[in-house]
Formats: sequence, structure tokens, C-alpha cells
Amino acid sequence: MAEFLSANDKRTNYCAELSAKNIGERVCVMGWAQKQRDLGALIFIDLRDRTGIVQLAFDEKTDREIFDKAFTVRAEFVLLAKGEVRRRGEGAVNKNIPTGEVEIAVDEFKILSAAETPPFEIVENSNVNAELRLKHRYLDLRRPDMQRRIMARSRIAKLARDYYDREGFVDIETPNLCKPTPEGARDYLVPSRVHKGKFYALPQSPQLYKQLLMVSGFDRYFQIARCFRDEDLRADRQPEFTQIDTEMSFVTADDVMKIHEGFLKYLMKEFAGLDMKEDFIRMPYVEAMERFGSDKPDIRFGYELTNLSEVVKNCGFKVFAGAVEAGGSVRAINVKGGAKFSRKEIDSLVEFVKSYRAKGLAWLKWAESGDISSSYAKFLTDEENEAIKSAMGAEVGDLILIVADKNKVVFDSLGALRCECAKRMGILDPMDFKFLWVTEFPLLEYSEEDGRFYAMHHPFTSPMDEDLQYIDSDPGRVRAKAYDIVLNGTELGGGSIRIHDGQIQSKMFEVLGLTEAEAREKFGYLLDAFKYGVPPHGGLAFGFDRLVTLILGLEDIRDVIAFPKVQNASELMTKCPSEPDSGALAELGIAVVTE
Ligand code: AMO
Ligand code: AMP
Repeated sequence: MAEFLSANDKRTNYCAELSAKNIGERVCVMGWAQKQRDLGALIFIDLRDRTGIVQLAFDEKTDREIFDKAFTVRAEFVLLAKGEVRRRGEGAVNKNIPTGEVEIAVDEFKILSAAETPPFEIVENSNVNAELRLKHRYLDLRRPDMQRRIMARSRIAKLARDYYDREGFVDIETPNLCKPTPEGARDYLVPSRVHKGKFYALPQSPQLYKQLLMVSGFDRYFQIARCFRDEDLRADRQPEFTQIDTEMSFVTADDVMKIHEGFLKYLMKEFAGLDMKEDFIRMPYVEAMERFGSDKPDIRFGYELTNLSEVVKNCGFKVFAGAVEAGGSVRAINVKGGAKFSRKEIDSLVEFVKSYRAKGLAWLKWAESGDISSSYAKFLTDEENEAIKSAMGAEVGDLILIVADKNKVVFDSLGALRCECAKRMGILDPMDFKFLWVTEFPLLEYSEEDGRFYAMHHPFTSPMDEDLQYIDSDPGRVRAKAYDIVLNGTELGGGSIRIHDGQIQSKMFEVLGLTEAEAREKFGYLLDAFKYGVPPHGGLAFGFDRLVTLILGLEDIRDVIAFPKVQNASELMTKCPSEPDSGALAELGIAVVTE
């Protein structure tokens, strides 16, 4: 039977706040029993709250009734304890925890709630399978490491609010039931009961509303916004996630980048104590691709790409020469020290690049012993082999990895491979924060499959002034006023200067294959708004979950989201999505067709 709080049961301290300086004070603490140790004449209970642990002590001086009650306590019982803070006995001092010198000699005690044995122990870094953790997320969140992460998230949100408030940004909420805001994913649709057969979309981002707020004259907008995208999930993607979303009027790309760089520096200083004085590197997209095979390069390490096309275009090995002839390229990375990889490990790298559609991976391993083994050397002349080695700056201990293919495949596979090799070499320090801006993205991306262009960022992104002339003749050549902020190989955020000219916006829709009628039907309200005076504007959104994950040195965004979804977009604890109550569908005018 649970006991209740009375009017004078007021907590005086969180558990881990207590230390030797509190000795002699009478305190009241509340929390969960971490463990109870019964030593016959003595009982100790470790009491845990979100700050940590303090030891409760019960001994021969303790009131009998309280002692007997303490005897019944099991892990995860919820307790209230009052008593005097005293120094622990000789030999009982625990130097590992802040409260390790003291204990509370309990003289008032309540069991506020009993607890069944939990499905897993509530301890730091527990090795419990992910499914069980998520099914009982409320218990998983009780673990100290999860508590720290969720509290860190709250603090980072607070720092963001402080920073953007100081910079004059106005916090404005935008609707969650809205017309589709396209960011390239599928929409989540919400049926309307009143307008049968019609649907709201959940926003993929507040993109259009924030632009309209600029038309309204708010000048600087900020929101910690929930976004919804029905897309395939990965470690850094959730169907609903959070952005630190911003928009500014009367700015250039440089202004937007500076403001947000300022936030990241402020955050690193306040949160991690890191003083980042240098400007973040700004790298055009083309350079990022050429050097790193990726538009979100991890610049903590080298292994940069070298273009070998010129070196091998006339060689006798068809795989190499053929790729160049077909308009592709032959590129390679030099994994310094990679010669320590066994043949089996190299074979697994060959398999690795195949998942990026590379047809193969040619390699050369220059072992410490001086021996050279290679998958391709036998197909080339001595001079050709020397030319490759020289172009790659190869030395004893190196592993050269070469891909010959269409450029897209070469970049994708080598871009991923260099990160994979760095991981396997054990040279990645998650607490080494290397930010960079990637700029001058292409405006459009051509899909071979669909035979049309798509907006690389979104359809409201402005072309670069000097490239606008190619929009009809060579749309693929047009660069955008778009920028991504990248941290250690992850796209942390992205944004752009927007089109603020109705004619260019219409042109953009045309290039994207939207007829005027379609554009009006989808975005008429934006085009109308642009008729009434629109300031040049631009902005950026950070993936808030990704930001928190990376700053904490973690890999999976689920670790910083209180109630995340799993791979198939369901939530294991509440078991959603679920079937609606009977009648709900009829009311919405919806019939479900199951094959
Ligand atoms: P974008 O689509 O690039 O831009 O999104 C901005 C940032 O949001 C994060 N992100 C995600 N995080 C978790 N799960 C997801 N499914 C997910 N999708 C995106 C990424 C990404 O960099 N409206 C524009 C911004 C702008 O132009 O101002 C936008 O949404 O970290
Ligand atoms: P093969 O002639 O298919 O036996 O290939 C000889 C070597 O070239 C093997 O190591 C293959 O893995 C490698 N190889 C095959 N296709 C490619 C490619 N597109 N790019 C790089 N190496 C390749």
C-alpha cells in the first residue's frame, strides 16, 4: 500500500547535492531505491534521483518500525527519507561518487510506491537489447546515462533560445496541420472529418510559413520546430524530428552563415567548454566531392580522393581505361597504415563498396615487410604501376584503394569507404569537433530514373546570380545560394537564400516540371504573397536531434529522443501506429483497403 506525501514532506535537496559540507544538516530526499543491502543489524539503501545517488542508513538507533520498513525495500521502490547527514564510517567512504563521504541517518521514512522487479536493471551503460529498452522506455529513461542525455538536450535547447533571442530572433509557432511543405520526403497525411476526402499534411519543415513570416515583416524568426517526414529510417533519421529553424530578412548567405556559426561557437563554449576562435572552413560543393567524395565530408582525417583518370586512361587494364572512356573516372584513396588490414579485411572492403553500386575495388597493399600485393598490378606495366604509386604518394605501410566507374558511383563508394577505413583504423575521435560549411550546391539534381530535375535543397532556393543565365540552356550547371553545415561527416543543418522574385520562382517551378496551374494549386498563396513586397530573405535549419547526438559523442539519434520510433516507424511502447476506434474511419469517410 502506497504512502502519501503530507504537507510538510518537502524535498530539501536532490540526492547527489549532498556532500561533507552538509554534515549535521537535517534533510529530506525522495527518489528510487537503487539497491538495498541488508547486513543484519544494518541496512543501507542507495537512493537515486536524476542527480545521482545518496546512501540512506538504518541501524540499531533507528526506530524499529522504520527499520522493518527499510527491510522490505526492493530495487525501484519510490521512497521518501528524512534524517541527518553524517560522515560515513571508516572504510565505507566511496571516493567514486560525489556523495561518497556521507550518508543520511534516517529517522522518517515512507514507501511512496512499491515496484515489481523491472525487466532490466536500472544502471548506466546496461547492455540490454534495444527492443526491450524501447518497450519499457520509461524505465530505460530512468538510467543515469539516458537521464543525462535528455537533460543535456534540454540545456542545448535553452542555449539555442538564449542565443537567438539575444540576436533578435522572434520565437513563432507555425501550424502542424497544413498544406504540404515539400522537403523531398513523403508526407504524413491527416484526414479531415469536416472536409471528407481532404487531408492536411504534417509539415516536413516550417519552410513556407517562415518565408511568409518574412513577408509579414518579422525580420528574424526562430522556432524549435517539430518536422514529419515519411522516409526510410537510419541511425540519423526519425519520421518525426526536431529542427532549430530560423529565417532572416535582408541578408546574404554570408550573413546567415555567420549568425549560425556564432551559435555553434557559443554552444561549444557554454556546453563543452571549447573555445572555437577560427572561422569554420567554407568549401564549395565541387571541392567537397573532388576531395572527399561527399557533400558532407568528415575532415577529421585525410585519405582524400586522388583522380587517377589521366594516369590510367591509356593503360591496358580495361576496367580502368574503359571507365574513363565511358565518361566516368578512376579515383583512389591512400589509407595510411592500412597495410595492416588482412586479406580478409580487404575482401570485406570490396564487399563494402559494392553496397554503393561499385562493381569492384582494386587495391594495392605495401606491407611493412616491403612486400607488395595487389589485385590490379598484374594488368598494368611497370611504368603504369609506378605512376599510380607516385600519384598516390604511396609508401611502405599504405593501402591504395581504387574505384573505376561512373562519377556518381566513384564518389559515393570512395566517400563512404574513406570513412569506413578511418573507423576501422580507430582514428576517429567523436569529441574532435570539425565543423565546415559546404557551399555552392547545385540548384538541381537530375534523376535518370524519372528523366527530370529535382530541387537539390527545395524549390524555394535561389540560384546564384551569375548562374541564372543557364537556367534554360543548362539547368544542371546552375549553382544555388545554398549551404550546409557539416560536423564530422554528418549534415547537421542546411539552408539557403530564397527566391524572392515571383518570376524566378515561376521559372523554378517550370524547370521542376510543374505547370503554372499545378504551381498555383500547390503554392499559389506563396506566389500571391510575393506580389505584396517581399524582402530578400534566407535561413537555415539545424537537425536538433543530430546536433545533440554529435555533441554528446553518440551515434544514434534515438539516444537523445525521449520516445523515438524504430526502423519500421512504429513505437514499441505504445504500439503505434494502431487501428483506429470503430466508427472513427466512417466518420472520416475513409475505407481501408487491405490486399
Ligand atoms: P533540410 O531538409 O536540410 O532543410 O533539414 C534540415 C536539417 O534537419 C535534419 N533532418 C533530420 N533529422 C532527423 N531525422 C530526419 N528524418 C531528418 N531530416 C532532416 C538534418 C538537416 O540538415 N526547410 C529547410 C531548411 C532551410 O532551408 O532553412 C530544411 O528543412 O540535420
Ligand atoms: P577482374 O578483371 O574483374 O578480375 O578485376 C580485377 C580487379 O579489379 C579486381 O580486384 C576487381 O575487384 C577490380 N575491379 C573490378 N571492377 C572494378 C571497378 N569498377 N573499379 C575498381 N576496381 C575494379
